[in-house]
Amino acid sequence: MKKFFSILFIAILLANCTATKEDKVTGLIAEKAMVVSARVEASQVGSDILKKGGNAYDAMIATQLALAVVYPQAGNIGGGGFMVFRHSDGKTGALDFREKAPLSSDKDMYLDEKGNVIPGMSDFGVHSSGVPGSVAGIVEVYEKYGSLPFKELVQPAIDLARNGFKVTKNQARSFNGTRERFAKANNYKILFDAEWKEGDVVKLEELAQTLERIRDNGRDGFYKGKTADLIVNYVKELGGIITHEDLVKYKAVWRKPIEFDYKGYKITSMTLPASGGVCLAQILKSVEPYDFSKIEHNSTKYLQLLTEAERRSYADRAHYLGDIDFVNVPIDSLTSPEYIKKRMSTFSWDKATKSSDVSHGEVLGYESNETTHYSIIDQFGNAVAVTTTLNTGYGSKVYVKGAGFFLNNEMDDFSAKPGVPNVYGLLGSAANAIAPEKRMLSSMTPTIVEKDGKLKMVVGTPGGSTIITSVAQNILNVVEYDMGMQESVNKARFHHQWLPDYIRMEPRGFDSITKVNLKALGYELLERNSLIIGRVDAILVLPNGKLEGGADPRGDDAAVGF
Ligand code: DON
Repeated sequence: MKKFFSILFIAILLANCTATKEDKVTGLIAEKAMVVSARVEASQVGSDILKKGGNAYDAMIATQLALAVVYPQAGNIGGGGFMVFRHSDGKTGALDFREKAPLSSDKDMYLDEKGNVIPGMSDFGVHSSGVPGSVAGIVEVYEKYGSLPFKELVQPAIDLARNGFKVTKNQARSFNGTRERFAKANNYKILFDAEWKEGDVVKLEELAQTLERIRDNGRDGFYKGKTADLIVNYVKELGGIITHEDLVKYKAVWRKPIEFDYKGYKITSMTLPASGGVCLAQILKSVEPYDFSKIEHNSTKYLQLLTEAERRSYADRAHYLGDIDFVNVPIDSLTSPEYIKKRMSTFSWDKATKSSDVSHGEVLGYESNETTHYSIIDQFGNAVAVTTTLNTGYGSKVYVKGAGFFLNNEMDDFSAKPGVPNVYGLLGSAANAIAPEKRMLSSMTPTIVEKDGKLKMVVGTPGGSTIITSVAQNILNVVEYDMGMQESVNKARFHHQWLPDYIRMEPRGFDSITKVNLKALGYELLERNSLIIGRVDAILVLPNGKLEGGADPRGDDAAVGF
């Protein structure tokens, strides 16, 4: 018996040691510049551009396009995204290259004659695609801030597409697992509809040629001419509604980012139609009054506090948020200290608030006024945070015949009908109803943190509705718990989004006592073995000025720098 307990004791000790070792892991350290993205090839392409003397904006373009080749699940030219930037001189800004609803869309387009949502129509196949924004986005970035010749920024992606890239184990599983849906969404056998194994080489000649047209003609290489013809013709063949006019009219928009202070840190994040900035501000401002030195990381109290902040913020998201070019959203009121204080006044440490008892808050007034993320810091001190997506893995699964890329299924991010959740379980209201040329509400949260006028952190993640809460947790990990970047990224995450009323948790990293306590307080927990929340790719500026990458081990993500 004694022997049994000694062995048990040693086993527990060893388990704890392993956990500590794992927790203290440090990411790639670079002296000057870094790119962290979902694939090593794309991070390498971005870093090579920086090494050639390009800036973070040049690297953004090259990385975006390289991801469109080597990470077709989410990297894209057939989707859209958001970029938040901070120049070396401290100037901040944001670019919205989110997809738009086609001109002939309408608010009831996914309803049957009885007014019910037609299952699968907004999130699969040709009807689910919005007008792509990524190519307009990169061209906009180039025209404003690019420095190297545009052709040099596109060429690495062309080479990757033509010469091929190696399929990872995760990717082989993902391609193979989607074959049936590839076949269903298309009227021909697409290249990815095959049996893949790790190490196989994928060559994408049609995509290489599409990228050549973009290289040679800029935005016209996509929104006009042969590429546009290929998109419109194939969409038509499949019965979809995107037209030449939709493509020609698409424009990326520079926007004023959401900026707020958290305990002396300045946080810059994306504004609407991405809900990330507003919700991040609400969540962090809700927890700001608390002393985290008295709240252990990932403890019962920590989960309670964040969950209650998240619950209230997501209830507001569902009611108020939509595309600010179409609806008036009271951003200032929703993020004001008075409003947030009032929202959190119903929070009690003694028991969980029920989501059924929480609706959106009353604001004082309307003032007039499978995604992927990459983070880049260049050797000049410029920083960009970019989150880009096709929505779910491979988007609509529609692979444009002759052009070699997937179209997004971003239309599902609209509210097809009030009270009916989208694929992420998110609800929406009239603010996020479909209208021609409107942008669907997003959760993407590319974010930059600074302290005392100096760049501190670049962060973001995919993960649908969990994006915002993952970004919030990583900011708290660094700011409140003094974690390094890789350590922070590796930490187990959790998520609450008002409805459904449960805390989603990654299975590892939360002890059983915490779970028992939370249940006793009235929280419902959802744990699944395979559940991962987000894939955070981030960079931290260390006190000595060096950069630490945090590349998420949940995927094939990698940091490359020098
Ligand atoms: O814009 C949004 O919020 C979603 N389309 C993001 C999708 C996403 O993160 C999927 N990746 N896991």
